[in-house]
Amino acid sequence: MKALILSGGHGTRLRPLTYSQQKQLIPVANKPVLFYAIEDVIEAGIHNIGIIVGPNAEQVKETVMSREWDAKIEFIYQGEPKGLAHAILVAREFLGDEDFVMYLGDNILREGIVRHKKHFEENDFDASILLQEVPNPQQFGVAELSEDGKTIKRLIEKPKVPPSNLALVGIYFFKPIIHEAVRNINPSWRNELEITDAIQWLIDHGYKVGWTKVTGWWKDTGKPEDLLDANRLILDDIETDIKVITKARIHGRVVIEGGTEIDENTVIKGPVVIGKNCRIKNAYIGPYTSIGDNVIIENTEIEDSIVLEGSEIRNAGRIVESLIGRGVKIINGTSHPFGRKLVIGDNSRLIL
Ligand code: TTP
Repeated sequence: MKALILSGGHGTRLRPLTYSQQKQLIPVANKPVLFYAIEDVIEAGIHNIGIIVGPNAEQVKETVMSREWDAKIEFIYQGEPKGLAHAILVAREFLGDEDFVMYLGDNILREGIVRHKKHFEENDFDASILLQEVPNPQQFGVAELSEDGKTIKRLIEKPKVPPSNLALVGIYFFKPIIHEAVRNINPSWRNELEITDAIQWLIDHGYKVGWTKVTGWWKDTGKPEDLLDANRLILDDIETDIKVITKARIHGRVVIEGGTEIDENTVIKGPVVIGKNCRIKNAYIGPYTSIGDNVIIENTEIEDSIVLEGSEIRNAGRIVESLIGRGVKIINGTSHPFGRKLVIGDNSRLIL
């Protein structure tokens, strides 16, 4: 089996971060979201991976290749992001005539895909999808099950009257018949080739589409609040690993990487991860916070937040539930005229 991991798309809902960074590269607990997908696929014994790249292709290639993987990885250029089924169309040559799993690179699934892959292979389905029970199915793609509950009868995008509370997760298993399906569908109202239409085509033409239920948590990190949520969920599972000597007061599970200096007036309450070469002075780093490499934090309290590499936060009061990009400066100035002096990118949000 091969894997097709999608790391294209514009990520408009994550602007301004996605003006300079492909959304799948944004770190959660200091690891790019995309890496969770690659790890899941390798864990399931798949060692032939194609990664769909789009707007920031070089950045994705560089980040992925900065690490060694127990897999052969190829990058497939999609050009304009014209939909999930379009990604399969452009990956036709790479996929050949093998079964494959398609994994959206901004999704994180706690339990991985081993059990789901096994179900697909053992039941001889033409496709198999992952579903999760959600309280608000109106906001998702939703599945209607067959009478015996074993296969899918219909997929409906954001239904007003949902036929079930089972939402589609961004991971799909396919046999090569999907190539015929993607060639036979038309672009949707948003001018994209939709994967749900391709799966519906399979069902309508008598092919068997199975499903498995996700039991642990699943997160689609498409919006800032989703990234913070994923950060909380991942941090819930970390184990203490402190690679430096510090007199700071540390409670709970905390990871601190090498080269980071933290003074004795700082309090850290886990779960927290702090990257390499940070300088933290007279600060409070509260639960569910991830701090990237080379970050400076002074005289500030920060909690339930993600701070990306190279940012500098001084005398900034109390920061909560925030997503702070790379190289950002948040400083309480001491020179006249007093007041808030802002240099903020397009689509930034400042809630004071
Ligand atoms: P979306 O979350 O719909 O991605 P998007 O980048 O269009 O986001 P936004 O709505 O905020 O603009 O897509 C799901 C995943 O698939 C995501 O990881 C991006 C990726 N993708 C592609 O690789 N190619 C595509 O053509 C599309 C539509 C998405």
